[in-house]
Order: sequence, then structure tokens, then C-alpha cells
Amino acid sequence: MTFGETPVEKKRRYVREMFDAIAHRYDLLNHILSAGLHLRWKRLAAAASQVPRGGRALDVCAGTGDLAFFLALHAGPEGIVVGVDFAPEMIRIARERASHDPHSEAVRFLQGDAERLPFLDGSFDAVTIGFGIRNVANVDQALQEMYRVLRPGGRLVVLEFSHPKPRLVRFLYHLYSFTLIPWIGRLLSGHPDAYRYLPTSIRSWPNPAAFNRLLERCGFQPLNCRLLCTGIAAMHVAVKPDPFRVESLFSPSG
Ligand SMILES: C[S@@+](CC[C@H](N)C(=O)[O-])C[C@H]1O[C@@H](n2cnc3c(N)ncnc32)[C@H](O)[C@@H]1O
Repeated sequence: MTFGETPVEKKRRYVREMFDAIAHRYDLLNHILSAGLHLRWKRLAAAASQVPRGGRALDVCAGTGDLAFFLALHAGPEGIVVGVDFAPEMIRIARERASHDPHSEAVRFLQGDAERLPFLDGSFDAVTIGFGIRNVANVDQALQEMYRVLRPGGRLVVLEFSHPKPRLVRFLYHLYSFTLIPWIGRLLSGHPDAYRYLPTSIRSWPNPAAFNRLLERCGFQPLNCRLLCTGIAAMHVAVKPDPFRVESLFSPSG
């Protein structure tokens, strides 16, 4: 630990350095370890954001840009899609991909911190975050920032690993994530423990009900949570209440 660092600062630095170090193999490992499923889930998340044609969308913890590119298909060339990530190597790869992607006219990638987003209040029609929130050092702070930059009535979509429901799937999934994933991850990325961190961080991540409470605490109104592959991943959709719409006067359970 660097002298004087708090545990939150330590996590922030650890995560940034780790993703920087594995960025060159990140896409390959995602394809192999999820058997391509991650792209299907990201496509669903982009659609669930309901970013309108010509609208503005932000993808936080953008990595190499998959979700931002899917958002761009909805926003169209007249829209604006911004991908933000704090790992410089992830952003370099995302920009390189954008330079070869014919649908990426609307997409920009910025190096920045999810906990201090460099945008004005209410700038975006939709905000997404794919497999990123679990890695953020101060989750509340990042959710509050996403709330701030979203316009009233705009949607937040959080895609994150979760906890499979059926016991047999849970058992097999844990076996896979604590044995094969670290082994393949280390072999292909060359990083000693990045793919050991992955299952450990998933295991300590809150279940969908607890995460919904966190969203509510940060001001969002959860709309729905869709479990993907029996709960291996979960997609939360929430809205920033619009005080000028009558529905926002009533609680969802009321
Ligand atoms: C598992 S990757 C997900 C990347 C991409 N969204 C995807 O689904 O492929 C997590 C990303 O979150 C980024 N990250 C973690 N904490 C961050 C923060 N505080 N600010 C910005 N990016 C952050 C990491 O650099 C990394 O690229």
C-alpha cells in the first residue's frame, strides 16, 4: 500500500492498474470466458436504455467500448455517445476500435473517473454501466454522479454479474469461476491475480434486491431487474424521477 492511502484509494489504484495491465487481452478473455454471451447482454442493455435517435448517452466504465458502440446504433449518427473509463490503456483501445467502426461517428471516449464525472447536470438521456459498478471504489458516489448527469426522466441501466439462483448452476458456476477462470485468465493476460479478483469481487457483490435499495438511496426509481442466464448476470433498469410527470408522485408499490 502506498504510504497514507485509505482502503478506498487503495482499491481505486489497484483496479486502475489491473485493468490497464490486462487491457490488451481484455476483449479476447471476455469472448472466451463468457462464450460470447457478454455481447448479447450488452446489446440488451443498450436497447433497455431507450436512448432516442439523436439523443445523448453516457457509458460509464466503458472499457474497450462494446456498450458505447451498441448505444451508438440506437442514437444514430446525429446522436452523442460518450464512453468514460479511468484506465488509459482501455481508452486507447476503445479509440482505436472507434477509428475502424463505421457506426462510431457519434462516439467519443474520454479518460475520467466514474466518481467525478466531467459533465454538467442533466446532460444525458441515458446512462449505462456494464460490469463496472462492482469495480468502483465508492459505489454510492458513482451512482450519485450518474444520477446527477442524467436528465429527469432519463434511464440508468446497470449490467453486472450476480448470483445464479438454481443450486446446481450456482455450484458449477462457482467451480468454474474459482478454478478455470483464474487459470485461463492468468495464462492469457499474464496478470498474476486479475482473474482471481473477478470471482472474489462477484461473490461479495450485493444481490439484486439489495442493489435496488442502493439505487433508491441514490434517488433512482428502480423499474425492473432482469436476470440473465438464471442470474449469472443481472440487468437493472432505473429512472431518474421527473418531477413534472404525474407518475413520479406515486411510489411503485403504491
Ligand atoms: C470489467 S471492466 C468493464 C468494461 C466494459 N464496460 C465491458 O463491459 O466490457 C471494468 C472497467 O471499469 C473501469 N473502472 C473501474 N473503476 C472506475 C472508475 N472509478 N472510473 C472509471 N472507470 C473505472 C476499469 O478501468 C475497467 O475498464
